[in-house]
Amino acid sequence: MQSEGSHPNLVGRLVVVSNRAPFRIVREFGRKRIEPTVGGLATTFLHLLQKHGGLWVAWSGGTETPTRLDVSEKHPPFSIVFIGLSERQISHYYWNMCNRGLWPLMHSMPFMCDFGQSDWDCYREVNQRFAQSCSEQLQSNDTVWIQDFHLALLPGLLRQAVRDRPIGLFWHVPFPGEAVLSQLPWSQELLKGMLGSDLIGFHTPAYASNFLDCCQDVLGLRVDRESGSVFHDVGITKVAAYPIGVPVDYFQGLRTDPKVIRRLARITRTVNVDRIILGVDRLDYTKGLPERLRGYERFLEQNPQYHKRVTLVQIAVPSRTRVPEYRALTREVEELVADIVTRFSIEGWLPIRYLYKQYDPQVLVAYYLAADVALITPLVDGMNLVAKEYVATHTRDDGVLILSELAGAAVELKEALLVNPYDADQIAQQLKYALEIDEGERRRRMWALRAAVEESTLTRWSQTFLQALHSVRNTTASGEPPQDTS
Ligand code: F6P
Repeated sequence: MQSEGSHPNLVGRLVVVSNRAPFRIVREFGRKRIEPTVGGLATTFLHLLQKHGGLWVAWSGGTETPTRLDVSEKHPPFSIVFIGLSERQISHYYWNMCNRGLWPLMHSMPFMCDFGQSDWDCYREVNQRFAQSCSEQLQSNDTVWIQDFHLALLPGLLRQAVRDRPIGLFWHVPFPGEAVLSQLPWSQELLKGMLGSDLIGFHTPAYASNFLDCCQDVLGLRVDRESGSVFHDVGITKVAAYPIGVPVDYFQGLRTDPKVIRRLARITRTVNVDRIILGVDRLDYTKGLPERLRGYERFLEQNPQYHKRVTLVQIAVPSRTRVPEYRALTREVEELVADIVTRFSIEGWLPIRYLYKQYDPQVLVAYYLAADVALITPLVDGMNLVAKEYVATHTRDDGVLILSELAGAAVELKEALLVNPYDADQIAQQLKYALEIDEGERRRRMWALRAAVEESTLTRWSQTFLQALHSVRNTTASGEPPQDTS
């Protein structure tokens, strides 16, 4: 196992800014408890800040603004400054603009979008609120790293307030082409906001290229594709692909955690079949759950010899439950699961186990280890960290990954069995292939996948991004004239 290395020696402190904080306060039966946030981004930055220290500015997850939280036990100290938003702001900014507007737009599903002027006005207002809070917190020599589509206007707003700090933006979701982005009535404002950054990172070269197209076609700016530069009135913004990694050491370390070992034994005992197929997703319409279930149903129809011998364990993490499209999806998935159970169950065997729940990493790793096949088939996905986590934990090169060719992760994980997530027949065929794969091929594929995952870990991702950010900023600060090669 390779070590993940240390963080770059940044000049000053790292300030991460994101919509979600890693913890949220939940009130139940008059009691307050703190629980971890759902989603890859929060978990990712929790790992980074626990390892390297810094400051995290984020929404508190509700209207309440808890006091600043200093997290120092066992780790280098880091602090979280929470931003509380009003009910009105949460509704217009988060539920509407982010989840019903920008989310489907970024995933090239414009037919799912619902845009409202008051939502956009509030999105701008919340980005201003973040800018104000960051300006109050920033010290000289801080490096600011803004995360994701919730805060697209923040780089531009912050640039006005703090001219000289390095500002980086990482876009954790896909970026659509010009024809789709133009459907957003405020596409110009969104792009200009993003261009307040010195460096913008995307998961894949295709998303970066779409962004450059949009700068050229929507804003009429000059771009240099070779160096990934956008030339604008404030200076130059560099754009490139930095595929995110997972904390490999952490996941591999969990393999020997007693809680994981106990849970693994329990899963194997309870599911009690020859082979376990696993899906793990936030319950989101981009993740392709109905299509996956139809693919699995097709597999069961075509392969009666596997009845009583395989079970699909589908973990669906509740997400954005106030959005009507997510509620409708929850019902659709439950109905499909019920259909499969009704149609195929035989006494003593469940063809599918559907777990609508958020699990902690120990339990997830136990499921990863129990799974002979991971079936990860999003319709579109910025990256997909579950695919990388599954691979990272299979250090014995057992396990097979079936992956959607439309996930960002497919760019690096070429040795997965790739599928078109809309094609039920192909999902069925690849499932059969995965269950019957010869041991040599299985090991060769998993070894190559693991090499790719171990090569680009979470720490290396942040190192590479932050080093690039500093070198872009140093070039700008040195007063070197912009290299306009277009
Ligand atoms: O991956 C994109 C993202 O928006 C992340 O920012 C977040 O971790 C995840 O989806 C969950 O979304 P939300 O914060 O809306 O629950």
